[in-house]
Amino acid sequence: QAFFKPIQNTCPPSPTKRHTKISVIGVGNVGMAIAQTILTQDLADELALVDAKPDRLQGEMLDLQHAAAFLPRTKILASVDYSVTAGSDLCIVTAGARQLPGESRLNLLQRNVALFSAVVPPLARYSPESILLIVSNPVDVLTYVAWKLSGFPSNRVIGSGTNLDSSRFRFLIADHLDVNAQDVQAYIVGEHGDTSVALWSSISVGGVPVLSFLERQQIAYEKETLEKIHKEVVESAYEVISLKGCTSWAIGYSVANLARTILRDQRRVHPVSVLAKGFYDMDGGEVFLSLPAQLGRNGVMGVANVHLTDEEADRLRNSAKAILEVQNQLDI
Ligand code: NAD
Ligand code: LAC
Repeated sequence: QAFFKPIQNTCPPSPTKRHTKISVIGVGNVGMAIAQTILTQDLADELALVDAKPDRLQGEMLDLQHAAAFLPRTKILASVDYSVTAGSDLCIVTAGARQLPGESRLNLLQRNVALFSAVVPPLARYSPESILLIVSNPVDVLTYVAWKLSGFPSNRVIGSGTNLDSSRFRFLIADHLDVNAQDVQAYIVGEHGDTSVALWSSISVGGVPVLSFLERQQIAYEKETLEKIHKEVVESAYEVISLKGCTSWAIGYSVANLARTILRDQRRVHPVSVLAKGFYDMDGGEVFLSLPAQLGRNGVMGVANVHLTDEEADRLRNSAKAILEVQNQLDI
């Protein structure tokens, strides 16, 4: 007998609301920060967790399920078996080794490429229509690896890329100018890592181009100040990792922000890692790096044509070169 006695003559439930399923692979610091942000922001009807460690996985699933009374309703599943991910709309991959203090992201490559051959093919098999969102590092090269291993069209394989670096950048600029970070429009593009590129020429605050904003406010700035802010962005992760052993909260919000845009077809522009061939004169190889991309329900819809100075364009090409050099060592 049903707990609630149904009222008479009702219509069947409206099928207009689409059931949304997100899978998160890897329930470490990053996977769990993403999972809990997805839950609090009500982004999925079903959340599937996968990890190689069954006890940890079961523990994390139960711990999240026990918060049900305080959260929007989401069915939470977990298994070491990828069948739990079947029919996902979005698969977020965070599994893998993370940096030790002082270690670069690129240094993780060999370990995480091997792991991706166990992770990506079953995801693609169980959710052939899904969008893959790669977070594990080095994220640009691993997004390329996921694209190759999945056989998906490039619009459905995205790396979280510099969406996080750009948030750090906006925070630091906002702090410097004493404004709200949400009013700062600013992109870091290129590699999520040491060769990332700050697009100073296109930054605006409240719609006002930042360099003229600084002049109007009579705030003196020098190129070194701008370089210092970008250097701080590049060093952010190293600093947080040396202090707490990992980064987690900011990447959690950053990825939930991408999930919202994709699953709700928001068509917002995010700096994320996409197949760059054909954009910004990058015709020299199949490289994934971050560009300001418009995202929607089908993944990448296009790339915004932001004006770059010659210096910015040079730096972007160098960033692509650095990623390709690492990628060319791979045998996939
Ligand atoms: P973590 O060690 O806390 O978690 C990694 C998880 O992956 C573990 O739970 C482990 O059991 C799981 N795992 C390992 N092999 C697996 C496999 N074959 N199948 C399924 N699960 C497996 O690490 P973390 O701090 O969560 O970081 C995870 C990754 O995210 C790292 O590569 C890190 O560098 C990266 N990261 C990326 C960004 C970004 O902006 N792109 C930000 C932060 C961290
Ligand atoms: C970050 C990770 C480590 O927080 O890539 O930038």
